[in-house]
Amino acid sequence: MTDPLSVHDFERLAAERVDPQIWCYFEGGAGDEWTLRENRAAYERWRFRPRVLVDVGEITTATTVLGTEVSMPFLVAPIAYQRLLDPEGERATARAAAAAGTIMCVSTFTTCTHAEIAAAAPGLVQWAQLYVLRDDGLTLWHLDEAVAAGCTAVVLTVDTPVLGRRERDLRMEFELPQELPLPYVREVLGEGNDTPASHTPFFSPSVTWRDVERFATHTNLPMLVKGIATREDALLACEHGAAGVVVSNHGGRQLDGAPATLDALPEVVEAVEGRVPVLLDGGIRRGADVLKALALGATATMGGRAPTFGLAVSGEQGVRDVLELIRLEIETGLALLGCTRPAEVGRSHISRSVAYDPRA
Ligand SMILES: Cc1cc2nc3c(=O)[nH]c(=O)nc-3n(C[C@H](O)[C@H](O)[C@H](O)COP(=O)(O)O)c2cc1C
Repeated sequence: MTDPLSVHDFERLAAERVDPQIWCYFEGGAGDEWTLRENRAAYERWRFRPRVLVDVGEITTATTVLGTEVSMPFLVAPIAYQRLLDPEGERATARAAAAAGTIMCVSTFTTCTHAEIAAAAPGLVQWAQLYVLRDDGLTLWHLDEAVAAGCTAVVLTVDTPVLGRRERDLRMEFELPQELPLPYVREVLGEGNDTPASHTPFFSPSVTWRDVERFATHTNLPMLVKGIATREDALLACEHGAAGVVVSNHGGRQLDGAPATLDALPEVVEAVEGRVPVLLDGGIRRGADVLKALALGATATMGGRAPTFGLAVSGEQGVRDVLELIRLEIETGLALLGCTRPAEVGRSHISRSVAYDPRA
């Protein structure tokens, strides 16, 4: 194959290179993987309405998210265990995100500390993703570490009171190496059968809206809530002081049967009424996917698997390549839509694809 020209090419190469016992964890979803497929399929249910004869001689893909200027409306979503794909793990992803001028959200299951990541990638805007442990002291300690390392926002993941059942992991008997560093959770996990499913008992299934305020107050950082799929929860997030919401179904890894995030987006945008930014993740593989999410009201998007495909293929350089491909596709797409910046993309730029009707 020639050099990878798209995120899909990176995905194919990554699937060839990574040990299948590890790859199942990164690729898979929950149950029948219907939601996983829907996340992708939803983009095909919308088509663009391009405008022409607009001066697009000067275009920028840059935009602002929570007051931070980013080079494009595509951020790096939190992904666990990155040293399974590359020895530098999150540090490689961080350097690539910093070079690309975008934000990286670091998982609670990171294999490098927030401080190590900050040191490896000067200039990176780092957010901390939070899973709430049953051990409140450790959760607060993790938050303190994130603040001390200079994280500028916390992303509370709320779609994981328990872990979705991921059959690919079970079938392939995916296990974490005992020596994998997990600085924010290793203390509670201990030794023994080390699978993601076996970690469930250490996480609090009792996190509620009150905790959003509690953790936000503890850090004084803006707190985004990740895993919103309905107008009801979008409204509650605003009422409880969330600084932003992320429409997400965890990449189809939690509730199989949950809607595609692009399908859930319009009702969340409507409920939020512009009070806070609405981010979306799930299935983004192309700049065109990002533009469709913007057209339906997202402020910006996040990518989970796409950057990891690059990481698996060629470490930091691979993540850089993936981020630049997506930025380039956003730039080209903006020009062809007749827009000069992300904020100009609106509802009039897309319409629902209509199924072919031979009688029409
Ligand atoms: C391998 C893998 C690990 C993930 N780990 C986390 C995590 O630790 N914390 C979290 O909030 N979300 C996690 N997610 C969900 C992502 O942040 C994101 O919501 C999802 O990947 C978006 O879908 P996409 O992969 O199609 O872009 C993970 C997803 C994958 C695929």
